[in-house]
Amino acid sequence: MGKYADRYFQVHPWQIIEDGFNPDYSEVAESIFSLGNEYTGLRGYFEEGYSGKSLQGSYLNGVYERRMLPKSGYKGMLPFTEFMVNTVDWVYTRVFCNGVTLDLAVSAISGFRRVLDLRTGVLCRSFTWQVDQGTEVELSFERFTSMEREQLVGQKLTAKVVRGQADLTILAGLDFTRPHVSVGDALFQVKTQDAAMGGASILAATKTTGQSVYAAAAFHGMEGKPSMEDGIAANQFTVSLIAGQTVSLNRVVTLLSARNDTEQASLSQRIQAANAELEKVDYDALKAESAAWWEKQWAVSDIEIQGDPENQQGIRFCIFQLHQTLHTAKYGAVFGAKGLTGEAYNGNTFWDSEVYCLPFYLFNNPQAAKSFLKFRYDTLPEAKQRAAALDCKGAFYPIATISGRECCDLWQHASLQLQATTGVAYGIWNYVHQTGDKDFLHGCGAEMLVEISRMLASRGDWDPVTGGYGYYCVMGPDEFQMMVHHNAYTNFMGKKALLFTLETLAEMDPKQIEKLGVTQAEREDWQEKADRMYIPYDEETRLFEQNMGYFHLPHRDPGSIPVEEFPLYAHWSYERIYRNDLIKQPDVLMFMMLYGSEFTKEQLTANFDYYEPRCIHESSLSPSIHSILACRLGRMEKAESMFDFATRMDLDNYNRNTREGLHTTSIAGAWMNIVYGFGGLISDGKILTLNPCIPKGWEKYTFCLWVGGSLLRIGVTQEEVSLEVLQGDAVKLKLYGREVTADKQTSTYRREDEA
Ligand code: BGC
Repeated sequence: MGKYADRYFQVHPWQIIEDGFNPDYSEVAESIFSLGNEYTGLRGYFEEGYSGKSLQGSYLNGVYERRMLPKSGYKGMLPFTEFMVNTVDWVYTRVFCNGVTLDLAVSAISGFRRVLDLRTGVLCRSFTWQVDQGTEVELSFERFTSMEREQLVGQKLTAKVVRGQADLTILAGLDFTRPHVSVGDALFQVKTQDAAMGGASILAATKTTGQSVYAAAAFHGMEGKPSMEDGIAANQFTVSLIAGQTVSLNRVVTLLSARNDTEQASLSQRIQAANAELEKVDYDALKAESAAWWEKQWAVSDIEIQGDPENQQGIRFCIFQLHQTLHTAKYGAVFGAKGLTGEAYNGNTFWDSEVYCLPFYLFNNPQAAKSFLKFRYDTLPEAKQRAAALDCKGAFYPIATISGRECCDLWQHASLQLQATTGVAYGIWNYVHQTGDKDFLHGCGAEMLVEISRMLASRGDWDPVTGGYGYYCVMGPDEFQMMVHHNAYTNFMGKKALLFTLETLAEMDPKQIEKLGVTQAEREDWQEKADRMYIPYDEETRLFEQNMGYFHLPHRDPGSIPVEEFPLYAHWSYERIYRNDLIKQPDVLMFMMLYGSEFTKEQLTANFDYYEPRCIHESSLSPSIHSILACRLGRMEKAESMFDFATRMDLDNYNRNTREGLHTTSIAGAWMNIVYGFGGLISDGKILTLNPCIPKGWEKYTFCLWVGGSLLRIGVTQEEVSLEVLQGDAVKLKLYGREVTADKQTSTYRREDEA
């Protein structure tokens, strides 16, 4: 796949360590050292200001701005797009000593070290500043975002004079003047700002969407005086120190967003309550409380790998980032493709959420899993409007969104891709399948399913030749084929969605169904369309055809394309990409992975052998799916080569674009790669199935899964598989095809290799 590591951070089982500062990696490090707690996210930029390269970003989930698009005369084109916006710089600090300003782009420093501790969620940075000929000051910074009280975040600065005399001035506050990097301008209007001794606050609103953000800081440890500039509310702390003396300043900040009318209406009340809480909260106690959250979470969601320190660190980093992006269902938050770590992909959520990310939460934090579906339920009205704009009935979920409205300004993606909609249906099915939450299914779930089915029944058509039903002019997950007919993935997932809707309705009370307004005629129509859905399949070769005509496309061997021509989007004219059989990411193989229990090994072999060599993995979502399937086929060499960079995609900047933000949804793919791939999990059947294999260099790996209220730990060595229930009742599952029961007593089985 022509990707290679750009190793910069040190390998450690529980920490990400930057030893010595290299400005060439400043932006990559900002992404890697991002902190977040679902409510807010902060890139790892230097709080004291930095005149070198930086993509400074501080985000609040669901706070976005709007950009108008050129007017189009065509129906269904978007009038505007929306993007997550850079908000308040709540770690804003400026440090001056003996009249010199600290700026790591120019200041003389030594002993730079930055450590993100994955066990506690605390980021520390320290170095010694050679201020002038006679003075040296040791500085250390610390920050965290609370996982228990998501609206609270903290930062601390400690300065120790090691040589000479230091007249130190620290400016610490809240800065709302920072530009949104890709726009080059600050997108907030400050409404009020205030600074008093020991505190500062600021209230601002986005310019076009009118959302509000309130931030208030309480400073402790030093006595300061208020300091105000336009858009910056701060305190200034001045102190003279001699060698050996230390000062320490900490702040706790409360961040509040008002993203919609309901939140706006309660904002002043919430501000009052937040200010009152701020007076009471102690920095160290808040930090300890958040660290305790991490400790509890690691106990149930760690993956331990013995014998491979790089992947050990890599997978823990992935798990850490996933929890940072979502860990509670409290806020109806958006799960962006880059999480809360950068402006790329505009903070938009994609089909990745339900299809790639949801499984991690279902098996690690089932309560949070519901949040994906809550977001889709809350945005059902927008999906219905989008369906109408595309001349469909029901609900058409956007391919990229932050507010529920379509934000993808590439019309061929926005109008032709049905996988966000089928992904929502799949997500509901998977959520209910794993959790058994029928209340949800028969309420919000059914409402969404009905609207999805209405769309699916109106968007498709009958094939005059085969007599089958299917979708014309679509773009499947393989975005290298556009305007195709009978895309196998779309038809397959459409059929599944229709059938699941019908199954759901069949088990519901007639009164509940009446409320949904579904007619008998509609149900019959959906049944017929599902039954007669055309899935292009050849019995003899066992191949699914990716879409009608795919087998007629000219063949291009990925190996014949010069490395410099990747990524193809940047080097080939747009339409050239569509004129051959190259595949961007799994399409047929994708539904075969999602519904693993429905296909025979022979079918999987045939399709894997046909499609895998044609795939160039232009999307980072691609290799993990191939690796999982290679495991299912017992092709360990292939599986390991596809897994090669999964867990370290960002740590080693494999795609050379980590600076823009982390590949958060691919990170979920890395988790799946271990659990569904090496662990051999198949979770779509009646009973959970495990067929564990193990990479040859690993001595052992263990992972946990929540299964119907029980926490199951699975350990795999080269020889054995062990099962143990850590919490809850015994769990029945299939191991290598045989039914076994796991309980509190560890049971051990011989590991088997796929024949
Ligand atoms: C992929 C899509 C994905 C999007 C966001 C694209 O490159 O092709 O499948 O939804 O990235 O991750």
